[in-house]
Amino acid sequence: MKKIRQPIVTIAGHVDHGKTSILDYFRGSTVAAKEAGLITQKISFTCFPAENIKIRCANLLKKLNIDLVIPGFLFIDTPGHAAFSNLRKRGGSLADLAILVIDINEGIKPQTSEVIQILKANKVPFIVALNKIDNVSSWKKPKEKIPVKESLEKQSELVKSEFERKLYDIIGTLSLLKFEADLFWNIKDFTKQLALIPCSAKTGEGMEELIAMLAGLAQKFLQGKLELSDECKGTILEVRKDSKMTYIEAIIYDGKLKLNDNLIVASLENPIETKVRALFKALPLCKGFESAKEVEAASGLQLQLTNHDVLPGMPFVVCNNERKKEEIKKQLQKEISKKIRLDKEGIVIKTDSLGSLEALMYLLRQKNIEIIKASIGNITKQDIMSAYTNQKFNQLNSVILGFNVSLNEDEEKESSKLNVKIITGEVVYKIIENFEEWQKEKQRKIEREKLSELTLPFKIKLMKNCIFRQSKPAICGFQVLAGSLQSGKKLMNIKGEEIGRIKAVQSENKSVEKAEKGSEVAVSIPNVTIGRQIKEEEILYSNLTEEEFRKLKKNKNLLTQDEIKILQEIAKIKRKERLTWGV
Ligand code: GTP
Ligand code: MG
Repeated sequence: MKKIRQPIVTIAGHVDHGKTSILDYFRGSTVAAKEAGLITQKISFTCFPAENIKIRCANLLKKLNIDLVIPGFLFIDTPGHAAFSNLRKRGGSLADLAILVIDINEGIKPQTSEVIQILKANKVPFIVALNKIDNVSSWKKPKEKIPVKESLEKQSELVKSEFERKLYDIIGTLSLLKFEADLFWNIKDFTKQLALIPCSAKTGEGMEELIAMLAGLAQKFLQGKLELSDECKGTILEVRKDSKMTYIEAIIYDGKLKLNDNLIVASLENPIETKVRALFKALPLCKGFESAKEVEAASGLQLQLTNHDVLPGMPFVVCNNERKKEEIKKQLQKEISKKIRLDKEGIVIKTDSLGSLEALMYLLRQKNIEIIKASIGNITKQDIMSAYTNQKFNQLNSVILGFNVSLNEDEEKESSKLNVKIITGEVVYKIIENFEEWQKEKQRKIEREKLSELTLPFKIKLMKNCIFRQSKPAICGFQVLAGSLQSGKKLMNIKGEEIGRIKAVQSENKSVEKAEKGSEVAVSIPNVTIGRQIKEEEILYSNLTEEEFRKLKKNKNLLTQDEIKILQEIAKIKRKERLTWGV
């Protein structure tokens, strides 16, 4: 019989819902409390050997009739905002299973739904930890250790109804996301229903049930999928650089990795050849790393490689055979280009790892948003140039979305100079939301600009004592009462009679094309004599053609309230002239 490896389990969920604390409870440590700012800053591994599972949940395993054959679990903890970066392996998902953590008191947050979508797209079986039950108001932890189901039954009616209200809220939202979910003790078929395990990482209630359900899930879903082969395969999770060294954290999910092995690491363009210069293996229960000569899958590792250009999220394969190299490179490249499919037009995206790049692409494509360039790392001048080139074809694509990446001052200046919009953040749904808002606003602006080829409705007043020249051309001061005055447009009086065409507009001795409401400007009008066709303090409107009027009426949503009001006034004047205008 072939040797079986531990399943890789990712713990995902919204920031602060208790991912690290759940792992802490499993391994009996208090990492969460020691983390800077209490937010997980980087990915970490925890191997949880089968012996520990057996000791912790002996009774429960027996009761559930689970005969543990897996050698334990390898958990990956991630910062809430990087939930996806660890989900990538060669040809599929790195995680064999997942625990989705939901704070029962907060319910499903947009980030929780994102994680669910990604787990679903990657076909990763998962269970849900309904964490922080101790925070359900008036919840009492029983004195002796009892199963969480019994604990719930013993709570007061008030607590029970509060718990149920929160539970059904979550079950309801999950059903909208097309999951039939229920409390784990009600589930009959784990392949069809999603198990919810009420628990508390603080008091430990439900924790054993969580591990036991995970073990059950592993045995059910992963039969035949955990056998080790001779070919060593893995994924780069993180690349950290300081002035002297590049630290690489990786996971291997098949085969054995040895010191001095040659690796082929996928890249967005050409695969990279490199060598393992130093090798450290993650110790059980998150007790750090130790130097090793050889490590077997599944395992968390720290590596030093001879090439420092490898990117987070990239799959790698050990290849010590020169003749096989080219074939492996070709395969890796094919897999990556299949995943990173680009469109002929579209926006530019940047993320911190291949996993998050794929996740962002997936979520954008769900919304029919096209992508022309996708890469890993901080935003560069080249990215800005690519987004700038888009302006020629579609201004709505002149944008860069960045997930977990930064933007230097120089690049920021360049982007505002070239009018390239940059939207960055640590929460994917917010980035997408901001992008959609920006596109809507931009679209409005573009349409509005098209409208300004027409005569827009405006209303102006010839100011008292502001006549600079009576005629040929008449030059006088006007105040803009509403709308924006446009140079070159025709004017009419309140009787609907045409009063010439504006030749030029000056504001503070400078020629301008437009003047907004409230401004006072000097206007020149040929073929008009002040005192004859117009008088001081007289009110004038823009003189629209009927066709212009109809177009404006059709695009009323692009006009301001003020402009709509003037359009109505203009229509009233024209109607008096027996024209069939109406607003
Ligand atoms: P990120 O790594 O930032 O995404 O957060 P996380 O999901 O790992 O959450 P973490 O474990 O750091 O917990 C966040 C806060 O919730 C901490 O203050 C924990 O002490 C607290 N917490 C976690 N689990 C429980 C629980 O079951 N009950 C209560 N009352 N507090 C909890
Ligand atoms: Mg954490």
